[in-house]
Amino acid sequence: MALGEILYEGKAKIIYKTDDPNQLLAHYKDDATAFNAQKRGTIAGKGQINCAIATHLFQHLEAEGIATHFIDQPQANQMRIRAVQIIPLEVVVRNIAAGSLCQQTGLPLGTRLSQPLVDYYYKDDALGDPLLTPDRIQLLQLATQEQLAQLHNLALAINQALIAFFDLSGITLVDFKLEFGLTADQQLLLADEISPDTCRLWDQAETDPQGRVLDKDRFRQDLGDVENAYTRVLERVLAQSRSHGPSA
Ligand code: TMP
Ligand code: ASP
Repeated sequence: MALGEILYEGKAKIIYKTDDPNQLLAHYKDDATAFNAQKRGTIAGKGQINCAIATHLFQHLEAEGIATHFIDQPQANQMRIRAVQIIPLEVVVRNIAAGSLCQQTGLPLGTRLSQPLVDYYYKDDALGDPLLTPDRIQLLQLATQEQLAQLHNLALAINQALIAFFDLSGITLVDFKLEFGLTADQQLLLADEISPDTCRLWDQAETDPQGRVLDKDRFRQDLGDVENAYTRVLERVLAQSRSHGPSA
């Protein structure tokens, strides 16, 4: 598929226009950033690995009745997607305490939450993606109350589907970040990506707190073996998708 002009370049993806105004092309990059791009690097092969993982997860979610922006994967590091206006919220779902939840609440790393926690962050690099409350979301008119309720329910449904999927792969879904967008006709779709860049994934076969990490925390915390960890996630996702049947 011919690439049109660049619509947007983010930290991990370039979004190209296509000759169809309802479709875009997401090019997954090997670039990695953390801490609002204060830390930068490259993870060899990440673009292809994350594109493949996201493809399988979007297909799985579609099969579970979740509407996503995914159309198809024309090349190893390219995904054709439906054009949406991204809602500037990062919707984070947490099952186990890690990362900023531990830093901000003092909960020890690894604390299992009694129910999933849904956190909203303002997708604004200049402000450092601050944590928002539902009232602040209303104040800033980032989403209507009805949309927010929809996002909350979708985030929880996606969490249930992904927990089950990863669990069968021997991986614990600790937390993850979602983004949603609206099509020209106001359909709400799951957008962006789901990959080891945007999830915390722990290997259930490993008890060592560093050895079990299969996600971008290996890059954030300089734990090494980042590419190997991402590859292990892909291998397990592929195996799991195959056993799920035709959507694979
Ligand atoms: P946090 O603990 O740093 O708030 O991150 C929660 C989850 O969201 C974790 O799985 C990593 C993911 N995440 C992103 O995908 N992008 C981001 O910019 C941040 C801060 C977190
Ligand atoms: N993706 C974010 C960034 O660069 C943060 C992160 O994933 O830790 O800035």
